[in-house]
Amino acid sequence: MTIRIDYTNMLAGAVAGGIPAAAWEGAQRDFGAAHAAVQQLRKSGALGFLDLPRDRALHDQSRDFAKRVRGKFDDVVLLGIGGSALGPVALHSALNKRDWNTLTKKERSGRPRFHVLDNVDPGTIGHLMGRLELERTLFVVISKSGGTAETMAQYLVVRGALNERFGAGAREHLVFVTDPAKGALRDIAKHEGVATLDIPPNVGGRFSVLTPVGILPAALLGMKTAQLLAGAADMEKRCRSGVLRENPGAVFGTLQWLADTALGRGTHVLMPYSDKLRDLAPWFVQLWAESLGKHRAEGDAGFGPTPLAARGATDQHSQVQLFMEGTPNKTVSFIQLGEHPVDVPIPKLHQDVPELAYLGGHHLGELIDIERRATAGALARRGRPNLTIHADHADEWHVGALIMLLEVATIYAGHLYGVNPLNQPGVELGKQFTYAMLGRADADAARREWEKLPKPDPDASV
Ligand code: PA5
Repeated sequence: MTIRIDYTNMLAGAVAGGIPAAAWEGAQRDFGAAHAAVQQLRKSGALGFLDLPRDRALHDQSRDFAKRVRGKFDDVVLLGIGGSALGPVALHSALNKRDWNTLTKKERSGRPRFHVLDNVDPGTIGHLMGRLELERTLFVVISKSGGTAETMAQYLVVRGALNERFGAGAREHLVFVTDPAKGALRDIAKHEGVATLDIPPNVGGRFSVLTPVGILPAALLGMKTAQLLAGAADMEKRCRSGVLRENPGAVFGTLQWLADTALGRGTHVLMPYSDKLRDLAPWFVQLWAESLGKHRAEGDAGFGPTPLAARGATDQHSQVQLFMEGTPNKTVSFIQLGEHPVDVPIPKLHQDVPELAYLGGHHLGELIDIERRATAGALARRGRPNLTIHADHADEWHVGALIMLLEVATIYAGHLYGVNPLNQPGVELGKQFTYAMLGRADADAARREWEKLPKPDPDASV
């Protein structure tokens, strides 16, 4: 059970466009300051996500609820957006059997199907609501703030349908995951006795996958949640080290920051070579983007890297051309599995056709690994820095460890970039404009601001 980062191809010794040895040596000093700041922040209680792997009481909230409702529901529908949806989606694709919702109940070991509504596209919600058997459906409403417009709108749609069908019994089909004390969801729950699980106040949305945000759906679907947390705990311990080379989270964060600030490589691609791990990439994109893209001071130009999600080997036939020959402003981080849970032999057929003959006798798992190595090598050859995160398996333990690794990396990167990785002030104005247009009572200032914006220019329209 190991996670290992091979960053040979990030360094100038191996790759012409890589990080010079002196810069990597010098980074130990920058890391020292970032590490001290992170330790301080941890002491202040601001980094609650680091304590989640050992929070038994919080883990029990999810386990107990899942045990209590076992067998009662055939469908679980998650309502949430951003950090309240991307983590559960990543866990589901990594750890459940493929095509879960099309399997029989027996093949799902009696566990429910799983649906995630992370948008307010009426087509998607309307379609799902029309197909569900409400008597056998549980809605998990996830919102840290308890008031996000998209999630609340979804909740109202669902609640309307539940009220109509079950009256006061509607609450038996609901569970909320939210702040323990604050917010509209918590108030509704108190008032109406809806079951509610906690997101600790010191854990922000995009760092919350190891709270009931991710652990409750995981427990409902039968994943080994203790193993997820054990993998995360192991990685968290490794990431306490004040020695840069021994701290995987710091190594990942520092390398990406250096690549950006010393080499102008500020586009950071995460590319798992595994279908199971594919949704870790969009989860990372949100984590990296929302944590690191922001102002350092009021009115400055703005800072931060641009994350990109890709999947190997599929994107070798899409984005890799850009990574190889496009603007040299990127790093690529691969994730490679040590072992594929199932492997498939490639039959030796058409031995007289050279384009096919060389494939026969190999395995698909071998092919995908070789393709990753070939892509990494080709990028290196062209002077394009890349690294590989090796995970022995795509199981709960390793997924928990990968999550913690990337979360810790984000915190270090925030300190190195000089931004606060825990807030997201940039999304506020858009939210306020939405409130203004929907007539929310407390949005007068935003309404005035909105009205000052230039009106659509007919000459700028085609
Ligand atoms: O990371 C974050 O804080 C955000 O992406 C939130 O997860 C997202 O805005 C949803 O917020 P909430 O969970 O409060 O509904």
